[in-house]
Amino acid sequence: MSGRNKLQKFAEVLQMPNVYESFEPTKPELTGVNGTKTDLRGRWAAEHFGNDRPITLELACGRGEYTLDLARQYSDRNFIGVDIKGARIWKGARIALAENLSNAAFLRTRIEVISHFFATGEVEEIWITFPDPFLKKGKENRRLTAAQFLKQYRRILKPGGVVHLKTDSQELYEWSVETLTEQPAVEILYRDHDIYSKPLPIPELATETYYERMHKDLGKTITYLRFRIGDGEILGGKGMPIH
Ligand SMILES: C[S@@+](CC[C@H](N)C(=O)[O-])C[C@H]1O[C@@H](n2cnc3c(N)ncnc32)[C@H](O)[C@@H]1O
Repeated sequence: MSGRNKLQKFAEVLQMPNVYESFEPTKPELTGVNGTKTDLRGRWAAEHFGNDRPITLELACGRGEYTLDLARQYSDRNFIGVDIKGARIWKGARIALAENLSNAAFLRTRIEVISHFFATGEVEEIWITFPDPFLKKGKENRRLTAAQFLKQYRRILKPGGVVHLKTDSQELYEWSVETLTEQPAVEILYRDHDIYSKPLPIPELATETYYERMHKDLGKTITYLRFRIGDGEILGGKGMPIH
């Protein structure tokens, strides 16, 4: 435990050179250290990371286990964890600074407006790690594999860019397989409803997040889905709920 309360963490996050924030979904503007306005759209690699390397996003990153672990494993790539919760991002950002992981950064915002912060094709791949499954009837369009999100992802992904979903929720996994199969633009590349019942297909899946540990302790199985969003039509999606 760090001994800090949430307000102290929010204040510290503001000072961190590896965290950017945007709170107002109707007017998405990015701020950096001490609330300084900044615009990194199309310039994340050059301006924040100081290189021209590919960018991976971790959406619903929480404490950013994937962002940190991938940054440790792939020093020739850039990673950005995205979440709305400042106290969680504080934890990941602090670890990144302590370990001098200059290829890891964090963006505190709502994923509903993610395409405001990246240029077309600026992102090479997306990981979605244990997102809230929104299982209640009528909430399906808030799931991070819903059509409205697919449209945003396609805008910022480079052509052929891949999306990975790792979740404990069999319902979210099955719903995603079913709805993505019906999307003309989407090609499902790999799917598994119980990844730990056999050797892992890719080493990245070995990274364990905070929520993953909790779900495994409860005896849940972990699912994984990988898909590509191509040129075809994306059906459905009424638009962002908070626009
Ligand atoms: C169940 S937690 C998973 C966190 C982490 N990936 C893990 O596995 O430990 C889901 C996370 O998604 C974030 N989240 C949910 N909806 C979001 C949204 N629309 N925009 C940004 N973050 C969101 C929450 O703040 C929360 O940290």
